[in-house]
Amino acid sequence: MGKLSGKTALITGAARGLGRAYALHLASLGANIGVIDINLKSFEDFETEKVLLTADTVMDEVRALGVKSAGATADVSDPEQVNAAVKKINEALGDIDILVCNAGGGSGKMTDNVASELDLEQYHLIVERNLSGTIHTVMAVAPAMKAKKKGKIITVSSHVGQAATSTGSYAHYAIAKAGILHYTKLLAQDLGAYDINVNCISPGFIATGRMAQGFKAMGEEKFLAALALKRFGTPEDCAKVVEFLATDLSDYVTGSCIEVAGGSTCRLTLSL
Ligand SMILES: NC(=O)c1ccc[n+]([C@@H]2O[C@H](COP(=O)([O-])OP(=O)(O)OC[C@H]3O[C@@H](n4cnc5c(N)ncnc54)[C@H](O)[C@@H]3O)[C@@H](O)[C@H]2O)c1
Repeated sequence: MGKLSGKTALITGAARGLGRAYALHLASLGANIGVIDINLKSFEDFETEKVLLTADTVMDEVRALGVKSAGATADVSDPEQVNAAVKKINEALGDIDILVCNAGGGSGKMTDNVASELDLEQYHLIVERNLSGTIHTVMAVAPAMKAKKKGKIITVSSHVGQAATSTGSYAHYAIAKAGILHYTKLLAQDLGAYDINVNCISPGFIATGRMAQGFKAMGEEKFLAALALKRFGTPEDCAKVVEFLATDLSDYVTGSCIEVAGGSTCRLTLSL
Protein backbone atom coordinates (compact mmCIF):
# COMPACT_ATOMS: atom_id res chain seq x y z
CA MET A 1 0.00 0.00 0.00
CA GLY A 2 1.42 3.34 -1.04
CA LYS A 3 0.47 6.54 0.74
CA LEU A 4 -1.68 7.57 -2.26
CA SER A 5 -3.32 4.16 -2.84
CA GLY A 6 -6.97 4.59 -3.81
CA LYS A 7 -6.45 8.23 -4.88
CA THR A 8 -6.63 9.57 -8.42
CA ALA A 9 -4.27 12.27 -9.63
CA LEU A 10 -4.82 14.23 -12.85
CA ILE A 11 -1.74 15.83 -14.37
CA THR A 12 -1.91 18.09 -17.42
CA GLY A 13 1.00 18.21 -19.85
CA ALA A 14 2.27 14.86 -18.57
CA ALA A 15 3.22 13.26 -21.90
CA ARG A 16 6.86 14.27 -21.33
CA GLY A 17 9.18 16.33 -19.14
CA LEU A 18 8.22 17.43 -15.65
CA GLY A 19 4.61 16.28 -15.99
CA ARG A 20 5.81 12.77 -16.81
CA ALA A 21 8.03 12.82 -13.69
CA TYR A 22 5.03 13.87 -11.55
CA ALA A 23 2.92 11.08 -13.10
CA LEU A 24 5.52 8.39 -12.42
CA HIS A 25 6.30 9.65 -8.91
CA LEU A 26 2.66 9.84 -7.79
CA ALA A 27 2.01 6.43 -9.41
CA SER A 28 4.94 5.00 -7.41
CA LEU A 29 3.07 6.18 -4.28
CA GLY A 30 -0.01 4.21 -5.40
CA ALA A 31 -2.15 6.87 -7.13
CA ASN A 32 -4.08 6.14 -10.32
CA ILE A 33 -3.01 8.67 -12.95
CA GLY A 34 -4.99 10.66 -15.50
CA VAL A 35 -2.98 12.41 -18.20
CA ILE A 36 -4.28 15.31 -20.29
CA ASP A 37 -2.01 16.61 -23.03
CA ILE A 38 -2.38 18.38 -26.36
CA ASN A 39 -0.30 15.50 -27.75
CA LEU A 40 -0.10 12.28 -25.72
CA LYS A 41 3.05 11.40 -27.68
CA SER A 42 4.76 14.80 -27.34
CA PHE A 43 7.96 13.01 -26.19
CA GLU A 44 8.45 12.20 -29.87
CA ASP A 45 9.25 15.89 -30.55
CA PHE A 46 12.63 15.58 -28.76
CA GLU A 47 15.01 12.65 -29.09
CA THR A 48 16.28 13.45 -25.56
CA GLU A 49 12.76 12.93 -24.18
CA LYS A 50 11.95 9.93 -26.38
CA VAL A 51 14.92 7.91 -25.07
CA LEU A 52 13.59 8.22 -21.51
CA LEU A 53 10.33 6.40 -22.27
CA THR A 54 10.22 2.79 -21.11
CA ALA A 55 6.90 2.02 -22.83
CA ASP A 56 4.75 3.34 -25.68
CA THR A 57 3.25 6.20 -23.68
CA VAL A 58 3.42 7.64 -20.16
CA MET A 59 0.08 5.95 -19.40
CA ASP A 60 1.69 2.58 -20.25
CA GLU A 61 4.69 3.42 -18.05
CA VAL A 62 2.29 4.23 -15.18
CA ARG A 63 0.36 0.95 -15.66
CA ALA A 64 3.64 -0.94 -15.45
CA LEU A 65 3.91 0.41 -11.89
CA GLY A 66 0.73 -1.51 -10.98
CA VAL A 67 -1.85 1.31 -10.93
CA LYS A 68 -4.54 2.45 -13.37
CA SER A 69 -4.01 5.15 -15.94
CA ALA A 70 -6.02 6.93 -18.63
CA GLY A 71 -5.11 9.61 -21.15
CA ALA A 72 -7.16 12.26 -22.95
CA THR A 73 -6.11 14.73 -25.61
CA ALA A 74 -6.99 18.38 -25.06
CA ASP A 75 -5.59 21.84 -25.59
CA VAL A 76 -5.91 23.41 -22.13
CA SER A 77 -6.44 26.82 -23.78
CA ASP A 78 -9.89 25.60 -24.85
CA PRO A 79 -12.34 25.14 -21.94
CA GLU A 80 -14.65 22.84 -23.94
CA GLN A 81 -11.79 20.48 -24.78
CA VAL A 82 -10.71 20.49 -21.12
CA ASN A 83 -14.24 19.70 -19.87
CA ALA A 84 -14.54 16.79 -22.33
CA ALA A 85 -11.12 15.43 -21.36
CA VAL A 86 -11.84 15.63 -17.62
CA LYS A 87 -15.15 13.80 -18.22
CA LYS A 88 -13.23 11.05 -20.05
CA ILE A 89 -10.72 10.72 -17.18
CA ASN A 90 -13.57 10.68 -14.61
CA GLU A 91 -15.29 7.86 -16.52
CA ALA A 92 -12.08 5.80 -16.52
CA LEU A 93 -10.70 6.59 -13.05
CA GLY A 94 -13.46 8.23 -10.97
CA ASP A 95 -13.27 11.60 -9.21
CA ILE A 96 -9.99 13.50 -9.09
CA ASP A 97 -8.38 13.80 -5.65
CA ILE A 98 -5.18 15.54 -6.77
CA LEU A 99 -4.86 17.98 -9.66
CA VAL A 100 -1.51 19.16 -11.03
CA CYS A 101 -1.93 21.98 -13.56
CA ASN A 102 1.43 21.48 -15.24
CA ALA A 103 0.70 22.04 -18.96
CA GLY A 104 2.43 25.16 -20.14
CA GLY A 105 5.67 26.60 -21.41
CA GLY A 106 7.00 29.60 -23.30
CA SER A 107 7.86 30.40 -26.90
CA GLY A 108 10.66 32.10 -28.80
CA LYS A 109 14.13 33.05 -27.58
CA MET A 110 14.88 33.82 -23.89
CA THR A 111 16.24 37.22 -25.03
CA ASP A 112 13.10 38.23 -26.97
CA ASN A 113 9.75 39.59 -25.81
CA VAL A 114 11.13 42.39 -23.64
CA ALA A 115 8.38 44.05 -21.63
CA SER A 116 7.96 47.12 -23.88
CA GLU A 117 8.18 45.18 -27.16
CA LEU A 118 6.02 42.12 -26.74
CA ASP A 119 5.07 40.07 -29.75
CA LEU A 120 1.33 40.25 -29.11
CA GLU A 121 0.55 37.03 -30.95
CA GLN A 122 3.01 35.12 -28.74
CA TYR A 123 1.82 37.00 -25.64
CA HIS A 124 -1.81 35.91 -26.12
CA LEU A 125 -0.78 32.33 -27.00
CA ILE A 126 1.39 31.95 -23.90
CA VAL A 127 -1.08 33.56 -21.48
CA GLU A 128 -3.79 31.26 -22.84
CA ARG A 129 -1.56 28.16 -22.62
CA ASN A 130 -0.32 28.81 -19.09
CA LEU A 131 -2.71 31.04 -17.10
CA SER A 132 -6.02 30.37 -18.88
CA GLY A 133 -5.11 26.67 -19.22
CA THR A 134 -4.66 26.46 -15.44
CA ILE A 135 -7.97 28.27 -14.81
CA HIS A 136 -9.88 26.08 -17.30
CA THR A 137 -8.55 22.89 -15.71
CA VAL A 138 -9.35 24.03 -12.19
CA MET A 139 -12.88 25.03 -13.24
CA ALA A 140 -13.43 21.56 -14.73
CA VAL A 141 -12.19 19.68 -11.65
CA ALA A 142 -13.03 21.88 -8.64
CA PRO A 143 -16.83 21.32 -8.57
CA ALA A 144 -16.43 17.59 -7.79
CA MET A 145 -13.72 18.33 -5.19
CA LYS A 146 -16.05 20.89 -3.56
CA ALA A 147 -18.87 18.33 -3.46
CA LYS A 148 -16.52 15.83 -1.76
CA LYS A 149 -15.07 18.55 0.53
CA LYS A 150 -11.54 17.27 -0.07
CA GLY A 151 -8.76 17.81 -2.56
CA LYS A 152 -5.26 18.97 -3.41
CA ILE A 153 -4.58 21.37 -6.26
CA ILE A 154 -1.03 22.15 -7.38
CA THR A 155 -0.35 24.90 -9.89
CA VAL A 156 2.94 25.49 -11.73
CA SER A 157 4.66 28.86 -11.91
CA SER A 158 8.35 29.51 -12.69
CA HIS A 159 11.18 31.42 -11.06
CA VAL A 160 10.78 33.98 -13.87
CA GLY A 161 7.22 34.52 -12.62
CA GLN A 162 8.67 35.61 -9.28
CA ALA A 163 11.73 37.68 -10.25
CA ALA A 164 12.29 39.75 -13.40
CA THR A 165 14.87 38.69 -15.96
CA SER A 166 17.71 41.26 -15.92
CA THR A 167 16.71 42.77 -19.30
CA GLY A 168 12.93 42.39 -18.92
CA SER A 169 12.93 39.68 -21.60
CA TYR A 170 10.63 36.64 -21.84
CA ALA A 171 7.92 38.88 -20.40
CA HIS A 172 5.03 37.04 -22.09
CA TYR A 173 5.82 33.84 -20.17
CA ALA A 174 6.84 35.61 -16.94
CA ILE A 175 3.53 37.53 -16.81
CA ALA A 176 1.54 34.33 -17.35
CA LYS A 177 3.46 32.51 -14.59
CA ALA A 178 3.11 35.49 -12.18
CA GLY A 179 -0.63 35.37 -12.87
CA ILE A 180 -0.72 31.70 -11.93
CA LEU A 181 0.95 32.52 -8.61
CA HIS A 182 -1.70 35.10 -7.72
CA TYR A 183 -4.53 32.88 -8.99
CA THR A 184 -3.22 30.19 -6.59
CA LYS A 185 -3.64 32.54 -3.61
CA LEU A 186 -7.17 33.53 -4.67
CA LEU A 187 -8.12 29.90 -5.23
CA ALA A 188 -6.76 28.91 -1.81
CA GLN A 189 -9.06 31.48 -0.19
CA ASP A 190 -12.03 30.36 -2.28
CA LEU A 191 -11.59 26.62 -1.69
CA GLY A 192 -10.21 26.54 1.87
CA ALA A 193 -13.67 26.10 3.39
CA TYR A 194 -14.01 22.88 1.34
CA ASP A 195 -10.79 21.41 2.79
CA ILE A 196 -9.07 21.80 -0.57
CA ASN A 197 -5.40 22.82 -0.39
CA VAL A 198 -4.12 24.94 -3.26
CA ASN A 199 -0.39 25.49 -3.63
CA CYS A 200 2.09 26.36 -6.31
CA ILE A 201 5.42 24.85 -7.32
CA SER A 202 7.89 27.22 -8.97
CA PRO A 203 10.66 25.39 -10.82
CA GLY A 204 13.93 27.04 -11.84
CA PHE A 205 16.37 25.65 -14.40
CA ILE A 206 15.31 22.00 -14.49
CA ALA A 207 17.23 19.66 -16.77
CA THR A 208 14.46 17.66 -18.41
CA GLY A 209 15.50 15.88 -21.61
CA ARG A 210 14.27 18.89 -23.60
CA MET A 211 15.79 21.61 -21.41
CA ALA A 212 19.17 19.90 -20.88
CA GLN A 213 19.66 20.22 -24.64
CA GLY A 214 18.75 23.94 -24.50
CA PHE A 215 21.06 24.70 -21.54
CA LYS A 216 23.98 23.12 -23.43
CA ALA A 217 23.21 25.13 -26.57
CA MET A 218 22.99 28.42 -24.61
CA GLY A 219 26.10 27.75 -22.45
CA GLU A 220 25.59 25.87 -19.18
CA GLU A 221 28.11 27.96 -17.19
CA LYS A 222 26.07 31.16 -17.25
CA PHE A 223 23.03 29.34 -15.85
CA LEU A 224 25.02 27.54 -13.14
CA ALA A 225 26.63 30.82 -12.05
CA ALA A 226 23.15 32.14 -11.19
CA LEU A 227 22.39 29.22 -8.84
CA ALA A 228 23.29 28.91 -5.15
CA LEU A 229 23.39 25.11 -5.47
CA LYS A 230 25.60 25.25 -8.64
CA ARG A 231 23.72 22.46 -10.42
CA PHE A 232 20.63 22.19 -12.60
CA GLY A 233 17.50 20.79 -10.96
CA THR A 234 16.25 17.34 -11.89
CA PRO A 235 12.63 16.38 -12.64
CA GLU A 236 12.79 14.25 -9.47
CA ASP A 237 13.73 17.36 -7.40
CA CYS A 238 10.39 18.84 -8.49
CA ALA A 239 8.45 15.57 -8.15
CA LYS A 240 9.48 15.27 -4.48
CA VAL A 241 7.95 18.68 -3.78
CA VAL A 242 4.80 17.66 -5.67
CA GLU A 243 4.68 14.59 -3.36
CA PHE A 244 4.73 16.93 -0.34
CA LEU A 245 1.92 19.06 -1.80
CA ALA A 246 -0.16 16.04 -2.90
CA THR A 247 -0.04 14.13 0.40
CA ASP A 248 -1.09 14.72 4.01
CA LEU A 249 2.39 16.11 4.73
CA SER A 250 1.02 19.48 3.54
CA ASP A 251 -2.47 19.36 5.13
CA TYR A 252 -2.04 22.78 6.80
CA VAL A 253 -0.29 24.41 3.84
CA THR A 254 -2.39 26.43 1.41
CA GLY A 255 -1.89 29.51 -0.77
CA SER A 256 1.87 28.89 -0.69
CA CYS A 257 4.48 28.75 -3.39
CA ILE A 258 7.52 26.49 -3.09
CA GLU A 259 10.46 27.39 -5.28
CA VAL A 260 12.44 24.43 -6.58
CA ALA A 261 15.07 26.63 -8.14
CA GLY A 262 18.42 26.00 -6.45
CA GLY A 263 18.45 29.50 -4.98
CA SER A 264 18.04 31.47 -8.22
CA THR A 265 15.60 34.09 -6.99
CA CYS A 266 16.73 34.85 -3.44
CA ARG A 267 19.70 37.13 -4.09
CA LEU A 268 20.83 40.26 -5.91
CA THR A 269 22.55 39.55 -9.22
CA LEU A 270 25.34 42.02 -8.32
CA SER A 271 28.66 40.13 -8.20
CA LEU A 272 30.85 41.18 -5.24
N1 LIG B 1 11.72 22.65 -17.30
C1 LIG B 1 11.93 23.77 -16.67
O1 LIG B 1 13.09 24.17 -16.47
C2 LIG B 1 10.78 24.61 -16.15
C3 LIG B 1 11.07 25.73 -15.37
C4 LIG B 1 10.03 26.50 -14.85
C5 LIG B 1 8.70 26.15 -15.11
N2 LIG B 1 8.45 25.06 -15.91
C6 LIG B 1 7.03 24.75 -16.15
O2 LIG B 1 6.80 23.38 -15.85
C7 LIG B 1 5.83 22.86 -16.76
C8 LIG B 1 6.43 21.66 -17.50
O3 LIG B 1 7.64 22.05 -18.10
P1 LIG B 1 8.45 21.07 -19.06
O4 LIG B 1 9.83 21.62 -19.13
O5 LIG B 1 8.22 19.67 -18.68
O6 LIG B 1 7.72 21.40 -20.48
P2 LIG B 1 7.63 20.54 -21.84
O7 LIG B 1 7.44 21.53 -22.94
O8 LIG B 1 8.76 19.60 -21.97
O9 LIG B 1 6.30 19.69 -21.64
C9 LIG B 1 5.06 20.34 -21.63
C10 LIG B 1 3.96 19.34 -21.93
O10 LIG B 1 2.73 20.09 -21.96
C11 LIG B 1 2.05 19.82 -23.18
N3 LIG B 1 1.32 21.02 -23.59
C12 LIG B 1 1.85 22.17 -24.10
N4 LIG B 1 0.89 23.03 -24.41
C13 LIG B 1 -0.28 22.42 -24.08
C14 LIG B 1 -1.65 22.80 -24.18
N5 LIG B 1 -2.01 23.98 -24.71
N6 LIG B 1 -2.60 21.93 -23.77
C15 LIG B 1 -2.24 20.73 -23.24
N7 LIG B 1 -0.97 20.31 -23.13
C16 LIG B 1 -0.01 21.15 -23.55
C17 LIG B 1 3.13 19.42 -24.19
O11 LIG B 1 2.59 18.63 -25.24
C18 LIG B 1 4.11 18.66 -23.30
O12 LIG B 1 3.78 17.29 -23.21
C19 LIG B 1 5.44 24.01 -17.68
O13 LIG B 1 4.30 24.67 -17.14
C20 LIG B 1 6.64 24.93 -17.61
O14 LIG B 1 6.31 26.27 -17.91
C21 LIG B 1 9.46 24.29 -16.43
